[in-house]
Amino acid sequence: MNLVITGSTSGIGLETVKALYPLFDKLILPVRNLEKAKKLVSRFDNPEKFDCLEMDLSSMKSVHKAGKQITDSYDQIDLLINNAGGMFPNSKKTKEGLDWSFAVNHLGHFHLSQLLLQNLIQAKGKVVFVSSEFHRLGSVKLNDMGLHNGTSSWKNYSDVKLYNILTTNKLHTLYSEKGLASYSLHPGAVNTSFGSESDLLSKVFINLTKPFFISPQKGAKTSIFIAKSNKDELQSGGYYDKKKLKKPSSKAEDVVLQDKLYDFSLQQLEEILS
Ligand SMILES: NC(=O)c1ccc[n+]([C@@H]2O[C@H](COP(=O)([O-])OP(=O)(O)OC[C@H]3O[C@@H](n4cnc5c(N)ncnc54)[C@H](OP(=O)(O)O)[C@@H]3O)[C@@H](O)[C@H]2O)c1
Repeated sequence: MNLVITGSTSGIGLETVKALYPLFDKLILPVRNLEKAKKLVSRFDNPEKFDCLEMDLSSMKSVHKAGKQITDSYDQIDLLINNAGGMFPNSKKTKEGLDWSFAVNHLGHFHLSQLLLQNLIQAKGKVVFVSSEFHRLGSVKLNDMGLHNGTSSWKNYSDVKLYNILTTNKLHTLYSEKGLASYSLHPGAVNTSFGSESDLLSKVFINLTKPFFISPQKGAKTSIFIAKSNKDELQSGGYYDKKKLKKPSSKAEDVVLQDKLYDFSLQQLEEILS
């Protein structure tokens, strides 16, 4: 069995990897910092079980290259966990001209999931998006889905975490009958490096509240639960919190928004990659 997980070099992702390591034949880690990943992997008993490759989610070209590398090397992907992410300053733009938060939290994972789709379907696998309860404060601005006119880092973060659930549900609609199951989840308020790349005010606020947060080990529990559970014990298209199904916001279940975001995302990728 093969696992692909993003954001494996820190926090919730690293704890998820530690727990899933015995269960998978190959753990494929697309990371932005290859040296950091190689150092972490060298601490495991069996480092050859890992395949670390460079992928910067802020660059769709980098995601494209990494996705192709994965599909060239592996026929089947049993589980894709789209875990990487964070809160970034409102006006920060990627080299490709995208809003940073939109790129890293949404479009990069959207693209990776598209690239691995056939391999996931072949394995009758699962795709998981690590979202957040912040999605409840999010919205989809139909005239600015790329968040070029965002109002704050918090609002952008809430919007993209809503996008994660909308994408999960769209993948469920499109591919559940072909055997691919899709899930989204909230990990809890977790004491990780989350927020370390945000604006100064947000960093101060997050650091003040962190002592009240749960540990990364506890924060990884819902991801691990979904990874380990049989598909017939789970609900594809479901949003999970504390290892239980939870109703997301009504916007997250809005089929029109799912379709509009999906079409917009495909169009954005075409513009950047053509
Ligand atoms: N912590 C919370 O309270 C909380 C609550 C709700 C949801 N979440 C979600 O949980 C997920 C994991 O976050 P965390 O709390 O574990 O935070 P974290 O400790 O900051 O980990 C974030 C991971 O994402 C990677 N990453 C960031 N930007 C990237 C990029 N451009 N390309 C590739 N990888 C990138 C980081 O890589 P480096 O190691 O190179 O920095 C790191 O591995 C995120 O999606 C976050 O939104 C967290």
